[in-house]
Amino acid sequence: MIIDRSALNSVKSGIESLGFEHFGTSVRSFMESLENDGRYVLFCSMNDGVLTGYLIISVVCDEAEVIQIAVGRDLLRKGVATGLIKECFEYLQKRSVISLFLEVRVSNVTAISFYEKTGFVVTGMRKNYYSDPVEDAIIMSMRLCCHCSG
Ligand SMILES: CC(C)(COP(=O)(O)OP(=O)(O)OC[C@H]1O[C@@H](n2cnc3c(N)ncnc32)[C@H](O)[C@@H]1OP(=O)(O)O)[C@@H](O)C(=O)NCCC(=O)NCCS
Repeated sequence: MIIDRSALNSVKSGIESLGFEHFGTSVRSFMESLENDGRYVLFCSMNDGVLTGYLIISVVCDEAEVIQIAVGRDLLRKGVATGLIKECFEYLQKRSVISLFLEVRVSNVTAISFYEKTGFVVTGMRKNYYSDPVEDAIIMSMRLCCHCSG
């Protein structure tokens, strides 16, 4: 995971305080499992030293995947996630990554709406991809070179 090591602890506790879970574990323990893995990149949005949102991606060769994006409940619909994803696009374009994809629960209409607004399109479906509760995933993706010129 690429991040300023001195900032890692404050970011981890900030993420924990946002109160989201990832795959049934706390985000803090999820992040700890990623810390020594160079495929993962964390983007953070801070306001006066307080974490307002974060985005985790993984990058393998010229393809990247959105692992998780979340924004604090008091700050929704203020463009925080849009800022994070734009920063991510810039990072990936500099690394010559050409495609970005993600899976999202079919019931997560807020996230689907956000991803559509950002330029992702639905490219497939994974049956029963999620557990607890079992649910299908929608696959969404985008070509970063198209995003550049668009
Ligand atoms: C999805 C999420 C990250 C969006 O964060 P955000 O900072 O509120 O998003 P933005 O303010 O940048 O919104 C950009 C656009 O996304 C769409 N959008 C965001 N929230 C929406 C909502 N509740 N309903 C409909 N569209 C929405 C809109 O088109 C919005 O543009 P607009 O406000 O000009 O209409 C946030 O809702 C969140 O943290 N959800 C919980 C975690 C989650 O489900 N993550 C995704 C799966 S890993």
